[in-house]
Amino acid sequence: MTQILFSPKNYQTKHLFVITENYQNDFEFIDKVNDYFKAYINNKENNSLIYNYLGKLVTIIKIDSKEPSNILHEKVRKHGAKIANELNKLKQTEILIVNQSSDKTLSLSAAEGLYLGNYQFINHLSKKEKVKNSLKHIYISAEKQISIKHINELNITCDATCKARDLVNEPVNFLNAKALSNAFKLMGKEAGFSVDVLNKSRIKHLKMGGLLAVNAGSVDEPTFNVMTYKPSKALNKKPIILVGKGVVYDTGGLSLKPTPNSMDSMKCDMAGAAAVGCAIYAIAKMKLNVHVIALVPATDNRPGYNAFAPGDIIEMMDGSTVEMLNSDAEGRMILADALHYAKQFKPELVIDIATLTGSAMAALGSNATAGMGNAEGILKTKLITSSFKVHERIAELPFWDDYNDLLKSDIADQKNIGGSLAGAITAGKFLEKFTDYPYYHLDIAGPAFLSAKDGYRPKGGTGVGVRLFIDFFKSI
Ligand code: BES
Ligand code: MG
Ligand code: ZN
Repeated sequence: MTQILFSPKNYQTKHLFVITENYQNDFEFIDKVNDYFKAYINNKENNSLIYNYLGKLVTIIKIDSKEPSNILHEKVRKHGAKIANELNKLKQTEILIVNQSSDKTLSLSAAEGLYLGNYQFINHLSKKEKVKNSLKHIYISAEKQISIKHINELNITCDATCKARDLVNEPVNFLNAKALSNAFKLMGKEAGFSVDVLNKSRIKHLKMGGLLAVNAGSVDEPTFNVMTYKPSKALNKKPIILVGKGVVYDTGGLSLKPTPNSMDSMKCDMAGAAAVGCAIYAIAKMKLNVHVIALVPATDNRPGYNAFAPGDIIEMMDGSTVEMLNSDAEGRMILADALHYAKQFKPELVIDIATLTGSAMAALGSNATAGMGNAEGILKTKLITSSFKVHERIAELPFWDDYNDLLKSDIADQKNIGGSLAGAITAGKFLEKFTDYPYYHLDIAGPAFLSAKDGYRPKGGTGVGVRLFIDFFKSI
């Protein structure tokens, strides 16, 4: 496990990560080496240096404090990931971050990039010790502006992000709906939030028609997870609710997906569930003063047994009917029941997060989350601000009622598909029908799962949403 630590005074370490605007020799390098560093880093052409000085890895990243803060922090995070790779190649266990720049919190971003870039998913390798990364300890040189609390919260944030990545990367033969619920229960016990798991008979009793329809083709039972964190001094009277799509595997059902580049990554279809579970885990661990509820409807989507057939009409938990014309548009069916379930809590805001549409991925690629909704005001603004701060950026799509026309059905209240145009938006508008509170929808189909490593985001599950929600709740 990786750990970020406060460096003791005069801590001597082999490897150094220097953040600077104007490089100073605060170290014990001989003049010749130091002059070289200075000349190199002060050269306009160079932004960073990585140098192996007699087995000591020295990296210097030059920053321009006139650049926007979000961009600066992201550059430093990315450099952190690069250095984690270098240290692992050299089989080294630790590094010290020294920040000579005026923004003292840049050390935290360097540590974050090192930590998140050090992630591996190797549980299933029989010889995992052989390939295990060596980097363990990331020291931050003490500064007045950085407290133990900052470092604790950063450790919790990075750990929660890696937990979400693990859950996403775990294939369905290891993580079905019940196993996902068990993972949440363990997290609740550890962090101090309650986890109520409703089983199939409770789900039937509640008439969650959408969740049951999607589960009909599966041998595994569905679960509905209610996670609650309510500190006694909560700042919000009405809860803020997070809803995560928990499709532990999406074959498309009878509207079967093709395998290459499509079904083969569909263990990622519970990335929304992982994000909300791991966010509430971190929030509870940090003991933030906010009342949060996380809801996760969970099932796999398969074509077996009585799998719902395209054309079926499904009665949803709220009593409305849906003409299910495509069994691959399953996410909205299970989320709809969860959004209806949320009404009883009279929430201040509900945010759902889901790997919902190929349309969002086609529009934005893996660099942005599609955001849309009817929520307005300070909380919505804070969510967008957090998304830029943590670099899990939200790109907003329109949410006009005109799009509802595309969901009209002649034989039911609405269809579960809106046709070939504006697929990400029609999915959001479908979901909005099940809400009666301020609502915001996040479609993470693009950024949830990568086909190749990108900076501190690994190949596979990225944990997107966790850092966003943590920063959002810290900001309110
Ligand atoms: N889980 C998929 C969406 C998805 C696609 C997630 C790519 C991650 C990467 C979702 O259930 C789905 O199949 N959506 C369909 C909806 C369509 C049938 C209306 C889609 O986007 O093609
Ligand atoms: Mg699908
Ligand atoms: Zn899906």
